[in-house]
Amino acid sequence: MTAFLNRPIASRGSSCPCYFLLLLVAISFAALPCFAAPAPIVLTGADSRPSTSLNGEWASIIDPYFSGLFSFHHEEKKNGYFMNYKAKPGDPFPTEYDFSKAPKLKVPGDWNTQRESLMFYEGPIWYEKDFTYDPKPHTHVFLHVGAANYHSWFWVNGQKVCEHEGGYTAFNCEITQAIHSGNNFVVAAVDNTRHEDNVPTLETDWWNYGGLTREVSLIELPDSFIDQYDLHLSHSEDGVIEGWVHVVGGQSGGKAEVGIPDLHARASAAIGADGRAALHFNVQGLERWTPESPKLYKVVIRAGADSIDESIGFRTIETRGTEILLNGKPIFLRGVAIHAEAPYRTGRAWSDKDAETLLGWAKELGCNYVRLAHYPHDETMLRAADRMGLLVWSENPVYWALEFDNPKVLAKAEQQLDEEINTSRNHAAIILWSMANETPNTPARTQFIETLATRARDLDPTRLITAALLVRGKGDTKIVDDPLGQALDVIGINEYIGWYEGRPESADTTQWQIAYQKPVIVSEFGAAAKAGLHGAENERWTEEYQANVYHHQLPMLNKIPQLRGMSPWCLMDFRSPNRPLVGIQDEFNRKGLISDQGQKKSAFYVLQKAYKYKTVGRPD
Ligand code: GCU
Repeated sequence: MTAFLNRPIASRGSSCPCYFLLLLVAISFAALPCFAAPAPIVLTGADSRPSTSLNGEWASIIDPYFSGLFSFHHEEKKNGYFMNYKAKPGDPFPTEYDFSKAPKLKVPGDWNTQRESLMFYEGPIWYEKDFTYDPKPHTHVFLHVGAANYHSWFWVNGQKVCEHEGGYTAFNCEITQAIHSGNNFVVAAVDNTRHEDNVPTLETDWWNYGGLTREVSLIELPDSFIDQYDLHLSHSEDGVIEGWVHVVGGQSGGKAEVGIPDLHARASAAIGADGRAALHFNVQGLERWTPESPKLYKVVIRAGADSIDESIGFRTIETRGTEILLNGKPIFLRGVAIHAEAPYRTGRAWSDKDAETLLGWAKELGCNYVRLAHYPHDETMLRAADRMGLLVWSENPVYWALEFDNPKVLAKAEQQLDEEINTSRNHAAIILWSMANETPNTPARTQFIETLATRARDLDPTRLITAALLVRGKGDTKIVDDPLGQALDVIGINEYIGWYEGRPESADTTQWQIAYQKPVIVSEFGAAAKAGLHGAENERWTEEYQANVYHHQLPMLNKIPQLRGMSPWCLMDFRSPNRPLVGIQDEFNRKGLISDQGQKKSAFYVLQKAYKYKTVGRPD
């Protein structure tokens, strides 16, 4: 019967009475516009909008063969699990799933750390959530997804509302046409299977946490609404705020307004035919945002019936020769690299508490900057960085060896870059957009990333473009001459002298040859240690060995004339599939200065002291 049901309609005999019944069902399914779902949209600062949370327990079905979506001939099903069909007595076909009886998964959250059986699971999992809703006139309803790793599909009441690829950026699906009064249900399929042409690709040194890993909610917007906006301090005119507001469905000639009550500042501008209103206005007495004094202003953005209450800090960032200038003054970035691994409970970080713990440790270390690796982190993290006064390096997950000659892969990287920048463009904390990490020096790679860098500059000319480059060596000399450096404002370099190469002392005799008169950030260096494991300083995996690497690294870094920042690898141990050493790594990368259970290792104090007494880098 199942085979009969799944065979294309045309091949079935016309004599069978249930044929007409099924034809009817199929036509009605086909009638539902559930396959040509609109692309999701990006909403700047979506998390600051009033919303109805869909967080909590969702029913879940593990579907390794994706038979909930694809037939035995791999055709997309019309009556898949997204229909959330409840079997009825006498149905002429079996229903082989039932969300109401299915085990739960928490959202937000990766599925790997919620069930031991899912720790290593890579594949599709279905999610279902019931909710009630009361539609309002002249109102768009969007399903806001903070992130879903990696490929995800969404249906509301059986109607496909969107599909998305990319595991670390937010997206919003219009569901106005699918939602109705009273009881509704949303079904999501999330597949974290790794593919060569994904971004990132097959190999990563972090756990492939799958699922609805960040907040999910319903956002209501008026007929014409603000989807994106950008407000920043002018680089060229003192006391001037400039930017734009983009309105969807706005009347050309209508007005967009911005108000900053604490500065008694108000400005408005006409919305052009392209939906954009350009803003440029003077402010008196503005206190610039700095790490020491992270001043945030309440900003109200209005257009028609729509308004957004934002909290924004204003500062400028630029380079001049080999200097990085924050608010016109040279700055040295004392930092650390951080993965979005949740402290203590492990798994993908998403909550305010996760952010405050991780960034609190960075502040305790004496940091004024953090490298958020290797993918866009959650808005909770970025808002915490704004509040706590930490400058941010934000990165697009172009990591290691992507298919750089595949235009589809470039399109995916561009889409993720657009989502990253358009979602997070108003965070004062973010000063650097990183295009990539440790990519192979090939012409296809260079062209690929140059294209991304140009796109990032077009999208946001107010921030600096960087990437973490590999370095090559000749004897005791480290050479930084990757051609990609030409496309960057700030050169990031990753080196592991004393761990992957040489001994800790090798740093003492290492010279640096850097082909660029640009600011340099040592975006990674470090060594692994098991917290609590002690021994001789030349004994790997001990805290003494890790601390010894830091002792030799810091004076070496001071020999780099263009050194303007550093972010050792890394703040906290994080789960990685490449680290099976039993009793030491146990599937964790142990290069953290702090263990995943919050134990500070000796090297933490070595770096804390260097940052406190500013013995590394140039005192500001
Ligand atoms: C690389 C890479 C990191 C990785 C680290 C390591 O440089 O960028 O993602 O975790 O080295 O090997 O620990």
